[in-house]
Amino acid sequence: MRLHQFCLLLVVTTVSTSPTTPASSVKCIDGCECREQKPILRTTFEIFNCKTPFVLNKSALSNVPKDRAFIKFKSTDVQHITSDAFEDFTQLEEVDFDNSRVGTIDSEAFNRKFLGAISFKNVHFAEIPNLKADFLEEFICEDCHLSKVPNLDNLPSLTFINFANNRITSIHESALSKLKKLEEVNLSNNSISELPMNLFVQNEIDTLKLDYNPLKSFTFHDDNVLESLSLAHCNLTVFDENSTKNLTFLTSLDLSGNNIVVLPLDTFNPMKSLETIDLSDNHLVELDDNIFSENSRLDTINLNNNNLKKLPNFQTKAKLFQTSTFSCKNCGLKSATGLANMARLTKIDLSNNEITDIEGAFSEMPILKKLFLSNNHIASIGLKSPELETLDLSNNPLLPLDPVTFTALPSLKILNVSSCALEKIWSNYNAELPKLTQLYLGQNQLSVITLDDVKIMPRLKVIDLRENPWKCTDDLEEVVKYFVKESVYPADIGTIQFKTHEELTFAENTKLVLQPVWPKILPNCDFDFGEEEGTEPSVHIVENEQDEDDDFYDEDEYEENDEDEEIPVEKAMEDPSPFNLARATYILSITSVFILTAVLVSVVAIVLTLLILKRNKSFNMHTGNLPRLKIPLWHTTPGQKKHSGSVYRPLSEDLYGSRTPIINRYEFKQTPQVHNSLP
Ligand SMILES: *[C@@H]1O[C@H](CO)[C@@H](O)[C@H](O)[C@H]1NC(C)=O
Ligand SMILES: *[C@@H]1O[C@H](CO)[C@@H](O)[C@H](O)[C@H]1NC(C)=O
Ligand SMILES: *[C@@H]1O[C@H](CO)[C@@H](O)[C@H](O)[C@H]1NC(C)=O
Ligand SMILES: *[C@@H]1O[C@H](CO)[C@@H](O)[C@H](O)[C@H]1NC(C)=O
Ligand SMILES: *[C@@H]1O[C@H](CO)[C@@H](O)[C@H](O)[C@H]1NC(C)=O
Ligand SMILES: *[C@@H]1O[C@H](CO)[C@@H](O)[C@H](O)[C@H]1NC(C)=O
Ligand SMILES: *[C@@H]1O[C@H](CO)[C@@H](O)[C@H](O)[C@H]1NC(C)=O
Repeated sequence: MRLHQFCLLLVVTTVSTSPTTPASSVKCIDGCECREQKPILRTTFEIFNCKTPFVLNKSALSNVPKDRAFIKFKSTDVQHITSDAFEDFTQLEEVDFDNSRVGTIDSEAFNRKFLGAISFKNVHFAEIPNLKADFLEEFICEDCHLSKVPNLDNLPSLTFINFANNRITSIHESALSKLKKLEEVNLSNNSISELPMNLFVQNEIDTLKLDYNPLKSFTFHDDNVLESLSLAHCNLTVFDENSTKNLTFLTSLDLSGNNIVVLPLDTFNPMKSLETIDLSDNHLVELDDNIFSENSRLDTINLNNNNLKKLPNFQTKAKLFQTSTFSCKNCGLKSATGLANMARLTKIDLSNNEITDIEGAFSEMPILKKLFLSNNHIASIGLKSPELETLDLSNNPLLPLDPVTFTALPSLKILNVSSCALEKIWSNYNAELPKLTQLYLGQNQLSVITLDDVKIMPRLKVIDLRENPWKCTDDLEEVVKYFVKESVYPADIGTIQFKTHEELTFAENTKLVLQPVWPKILPNCDFDFGEEEGTEPSVHIVENEQDEDDDFYDEDEYEENDEDEEIPVEKAMEDPSPFNLARATYILSITSVFILTAVLVSVVAIVLTLLILKRNKSFNMHTGNLPRLKIPLWHTTPGQKKHSGSVYRPLSEDLYGSRTPIINRYEFKQTPQVHNSLP
């Protein structure tokens, strides 16, 4: 995307003003290579590829500048870490060890004010670390061959632990009992078969990941505020009310990839807050009509890859199902019934089933926008859906399409009928498809296309004609000339996917019009594009240029774009002329530079202020009794919902794949926990 490129460029420019110092010029530990990085705020020092083992003590680090906030060790062999090793690093915030050996560690080695995070990834320890660090908030130990959870009793500030990809088999009930501030725990991919019921009674964690553990069952204590629970690929056969009873605050539950065959009727009843459930890749054969009847907030249901054969007739005790997204791909479904009570659905995916008849189906969902029905046994379309914009019917044995049936789909913009064995597109021309902008006709048996076929789609902007046995007739030539004239794009230009269509638009600016592109799509036809036709597109563009301002400010064109996946194509295609698009994108790019610059300046200003306050120790959130500003952890993926609400994602976190340190929680940790505000 052009805009992305622009943002990236801006970022790159910003970063490159603080270049990486070449390895050779940086002094460091004997036998190691070193390099420095100075992104906007955090100065990083990396020590890597050490040829000889060394003791990490004060003198070993004597050549490393003492104002570094982040020290990273990679491919090193550290025999021992002494308690004074980082003594002089007054601004140290994070220490990482990647792909290294770490012998023994003095327990106080990381007990430094401001040192908030340590991370070991793919590290072999001679001895499981037993650390004491009063300020440490994040402790990561992934791929560390751990057979048990390290002693965490002396790490009272921990909010996040990640011990994924180890060999932990069991956890003692009191292992986490001293961690009053713990919020998130990742124990994925271990060998845990049982989790003690009271493991988390002393904490108020909101996120627990236990994927890839051979769990026999799952239970949780009451009085918790757990919001997100992931039990994917845990070999669970049983999941019932005993598992969910105490999870009244849970909003997100992932049970994908287990061995669940039956879910008792009342399984999810206690989960009044549940919003997202993933039950994909299980062995469910049946679901009760009332399985979600008490989950009035349920927004997203994923049942993919379960051999259900038939959907239950979902019922709710609430006034209305809130569910907006429902998916049951590859469920062996013979019919599309069962969703009649889910009137708020906007997206339904029933691909890869055995549905034959959709006559009158989905009419109960007045705001349905996207419907995916590819790979079924559907022959005709009798749908009625006033808001439907995207309809995927690819890989169905469709009969020639009747435009009249599409009058019941007045908002339809994208229609995919690829691989439908169509020999003819339309059965008649008795109606128009007024909003259709994208039509996918690839891999059919089409040999003829006429102007009549395309003229019933007056707003068509993208058409896919690939892999059809086209005959090089005058009709086809006429259609292609019409496409060139009306700026209808092929969905694929050689190997360039249509996603990069904006490149084409910009190319068009420099006179590369559609004219040479279309014949490449239909290489067997030797069409004659005379000079007269050749000038047509540019005339067309010039015409458009005159009323371009009107087009650019056309509200309609800009309002409709709440699409997610299709944005690039869609947005582009909304615009009547690609030339306008180019200009619009250009203006957007320029605007984005200003906005981004402003954002950057603000962030820098805020951070510097906080930094100064922090260093002067004149800043106390606690006495001010302000609500705690919960900053997401550096490792959390963007978009992940945290319950605190006040989520500020530092810019640099996305830019450098690492967390912005200074506005971290170190300063705010004395303030009340957000959890406490919950009942
Ligand atoms: C640091 O370790 C090196 C190598 O083991 C040793 O020679 C040196 O005396 C140590 N320095 C201090 C200050 O302990
Ligand atoms: C938990 O760890 C696994 C394995 O490294 C990783 O894939 C997953 O993203 C982690 N989850 C979180 C929330 O950190
Ligand atoms: C689990 O961890 C092991 C290393 O301990 C790794 O090789 C494997 O790929 C991980 N599996 C998953 C599913 O992450
Ligand atoms: C999963 O559970 C089944 C029976 O419950 C057991 O036979 C199998 O060994 C388990 N698989 C793993 C990987 O633990
Ligand atoms: C709910 O929590 C309480 C207290 O921790 C516990 O005794 C009870 O067994 C839990 N219920 C279930 C069904 O797990
Ligand atoms: C829940 O646990 C209790 C006590 O272990 C047991 O008696 C009951 O049958 C369990 N309920 C279900 C639905 O398995
Ligand atoms: C249309 O359907 C085909 C076949 O299922 C698929 O490969 C293609 O990605 C779809 N195109 C769009 C734009 O959704």
